[in-house]
Amino acid sequence: MRSFQEQVCCSQVDVVIGKDYVEELNSINGRKAVVFSKNLKLEGLEADLLIPLDDGEQAKDLSTVLSIAREMFEKGFDRGDYVIAVGGGTVLDVVGFASSIYLRGLKLVNVPTTFLGMVDAGIGGKTGVNFQGIKNVLGTFYQPSKIVIDLKFLRTLPIEELKKGMAEVIKYSLTLDKELYDYLSLNKDRVMAKDEDALEEVVYRSVKDKLGVVKQDEREEKGIRIVLNFGHTIGHAIEAGSDFKVPHGYAISVGMVCEAKIAEEMGYSEEGVVEDVLWLLQLYNLPISVDQLGQNVSVEKALKAIGKDKKVRGGAVMMPFPTRIGDWKRVDVPLETLRGFAEQCLK
Ligand SMILES: NC(=O)c1ccc[n+]([C@@H]2O[C@H](COP(=O)([O-])OP(=O)(O)OC[C@H]3O[C@@H](n4cnc5c(N)ncnc54)[C@H](O)[C@@H]3O)[C@@H](O)[C@H]2O)c1
Repeated sequence: MRSFQEQVCCSQVDVVIGKDYVEELNSINGRKAVVFSKNLKLEGLEADLLIPLDDGEQAKDLSTVLSIAREMFEKGFDRGDYVIAVGGGTVLDVVGFASSIYLRGLKLVNVPTTFLGMVDAGIGGKTGVNFQGIKNVLGTFYQPSKIVIDLKFLRTLPIEELKKGMAEVIKYSLTLDKELYDYLSLNKDRVMAKDEDALEEVVYRSVKDKLGVVKQDEREEKGIRIVLNFGHTIGHAIEAGSDFKVPHGYAISVGMVCEAKIAEEMGYSEEGVVEDVLWLLQLYNLPISVDQLGQNVSVEKALKAIGKDKKVRGGAVMMPFPTRIGDWKRVDVPLETLRGFAEQCLK
C-alpha cells in the first residue's frame, strides 16, 4: 500500500494506491454521491446517493452532466458533500466535470477502475465532455481531493486495455523516469500477468510522474505540461487519418516512435534513444509502425490534423522531444518541417 499527498496549486491531492476502496471510501465522513459505471458491481459501499452511468465515449455528454446535477440537486447536495466517481476514464471525465460546476465545485474523489484511468485519466484534474462530435471541447481543470486506486479492479480488465494504458506509462518512462524504464524492462512478465506488487510499483511511479508535471504547470500555460503529450501530435494525426478506428494507446505508441525519430533527425536526442523507444514498445507488444495498426491511415488526413494540434503557436508546434531516456526538451518545430518528417514516418 502506498499513500502520499501533492499540492497542486491551490488544492491538496491525497493519493492511496493498493488499498481496499470500500474501506477507504466508507471512512470518509460526509454525505456521498457515488456515480459509477453500470458495468461494475459495487458491494458494501455506503452512499447517500447512487448514480449508475453507461460508460464509453457517448457518456461524455452534457446530458449526462445535467442528469447527475439534477439528482444531486433533488437530494439537496451542498458544498460540504462529496462526489465519488468510480469507473474508467470516460466516467471520471464526465463526473469530474459535473462535480466542478455543481455549486461551483463539490469535493471530488476519483476511483479509477481501468488501467488508463489509474495511470492517466484519474490524475491531473482535466475534466470534460465531448461537444458537436469533438472530444473534450467543454471542460474544466478541477483537482480531485482524493484519488483511491484499488488494483483489484484490474483483475477483470481485458489484457488489451492493460496494453493500451501501458503506452502512456511507457511515455512517462521515456520522457521523465529512467528508473521506470528500467523497471518496465525487467518486469514485463509480472506486469502483464497482473502481479499486484508489480502493478502497484508501475501505477505509483506513473501517478508520481504525472502529478510532478501537473503541479508545475496545472493549466498547460508554461510549456511544461506539454511533456505529457509526447507521441500525441503524430498519435492524434494517426487517429484522425484512420477516422478514429485506431485506438488511442496504439496510435500514440506509433506516435512516440515517429516523434523520437524526428527528435533524433533534428539532432536533439542522444544516440540510441530511438532504439530504446522501439525496444520497450516491442517488449510490451505495442505497435511501432503504421503497417502494424491493421487499419488504413490516410496520410493526407493525418497531415491535415497536425495543423489542428493544441500545441501549435504562430506556425510552429511545441514538441516535447526525448533527449535521453528519462529526460526531455521543448522544441518549437515549424509546421511544414513537422509535416515533412511525419509524412516519411507514416508512409
Ligand atoms: N482527463 C484526463 O486527463 C484524461 C487522460 C487520458 C484519457 N482520458 C479520457 O479517458 C477516456 C478513456 O478511458 P478508458 O480507456 O478508461 O475508457 P472507458 O471509460 O470507456 O473504459 C473502457 C471499458 O472498460 C470497462 N471497465 C471499466 N472498469 C473495468 C474493470 N475494472 N474491469 C473490466 N472492465 C472495466 C468500461 O465499462 C468500458 O467498457 C477517454 O474519453 C479519454 O479522453 C482523460
